[in-house]
Amino acid sequence: MAPKTPIYMDYQATTPLDPKVFTAMQRWFVEGFGNPHSSTHRYGWEAEAAVEEARKSVAGLINADAKSVFFTSGATESNNLAIKGVMEALSAQKPHLIIPVTEHKCVVESAQAVARHGARVTWLPMKPDGLIDLDLLAQALSDDTALVSVMAVNNEIGVIQPVAEIGALCRKAGVYFHCDAAQAFGKIPLDVDGMNIDLMSISGHKIYGPKGIGAIYLRRARPRVRYVPQMAGGGQEGGVRSGTLSPALCVGLGQAASIAKTRMQSDQAHINDLAKRFLHPIEQAFPQVILNGDRHARFWGNINLSFPGVDGDLLLSSLRDLAVSSGAACASATSGPSYVLEAIGRSRKDALSSIRFGIGRFTTPEEIDFAARTVITALTELGWDKKEHGVGAW
Ligand SMILES: Cc1ncc(COP(=O)(O)O)c(C=O)c1O
Repeated sequence: MAPKTPIYMDYQATTPLDPKVFTAMQRWFVEGFGNPHSSTHRYGWEAEAAVEEARKSVAGLINADAKSVFFTSGATESNNLAIKGVMEALSAQKPHLIIPVTEHKCVVESAQAVARHGARVTWLPMKPDGLIDLDLLAQALSDDTALVSVMAVNNEIGVIQPVAEIGALCRKAGVYFHCDAAQAFGKIPLDVDGMNIDLMSISGHKIYGPKGIGAIYLRRARPRVRYVPQMAGGGQEGGVRSGTLSPALCVGLGQAASIAKTRMQSDQAHINDLAKRFLHPIEQAFPQVILNGDRHARFWGNINLSFPGVDGDLLLSSLRDLAVSSGAACASATSGPSYVLEAIGRSRKDALSSIRFGIGRFTTPEEIDFAARTVITALTELGWDKKEHGVGAW
């Protein structure tokens, strides 16, 4: 039986809510409506207890103390807080910030915002494999560097940065290390102590949790992260982020995190198998296809392919049975070639003929076989010549 189309392959944009997460959230919308910040009655206490349980689950996935984890509306807010908050606190003494050019738009634009207020930003070029050049990073660190911000897994091309090595360099230099883990949290092992991460951004809807919730980890000691809160108000979340929390959303994120903890290995094995099953026939049929980003240091749930010479719009319309994303990925409000693909050496034209295929927990082998066949048929119909450029090794 043919699978139901369009097949969802946009797991980097968002993931379907895990039904177990939805079940856990439900009671906190209606009976459990209390304000978790109300300290004078049972409605508030119960909601608060649920929020604290969720905080523990999030912290447990990154080896953090629950007291260092604060809920936000998502990774966009966490990234804004990390960059603007730290630079506002430190820029008088340390106005320097280091950011790779391939970071998510919300990091890039937060860095541009602090630059308008006097910060100096070093935009780190990335290697053609999409990975950071640790020597370049070491050279860029200086006495006035306050913060280095590097994402763990790239949202457009799936490469996994050497987070522990970056953390070690930053710690030695006495510089805070912020890691945008929106695409990594719950998918690959992360350990804020083992990796010397001082700030981390987390998103709920990338891990089969709800949208509109995320978290930020802020190291409390050795070193204690200094920052200025970016949301003024009632002082909730220990003053880090004012605003009434939604217990339902917090419970959803907590539940998604605890499921991710138990399923991380099996999810990863499932995704790796399906990635091979998808990519292998395409590479066999079309050896000239380019897999963007390093072939080894990668999260295989993200397969970004360039099809040089193929009209990207035509290809995308031939793939309407697949819910995929073109190169511009998460920055859906903008069009044009992806700055990430251009930064790793794709031409403007090749960047425009690139597609990101996402594979996740709920993807089935039947869907993958159908997707691979659909891609091969579309390319054949578009007359993409077979060339002998060698098939990538598995
Ligand atoms: C790497 C990365 N950072 C940040 C974000 C923003 O996350 P959120 O949707 O939770 O604000 C995303 C998602 O698009 C992402 O992929």
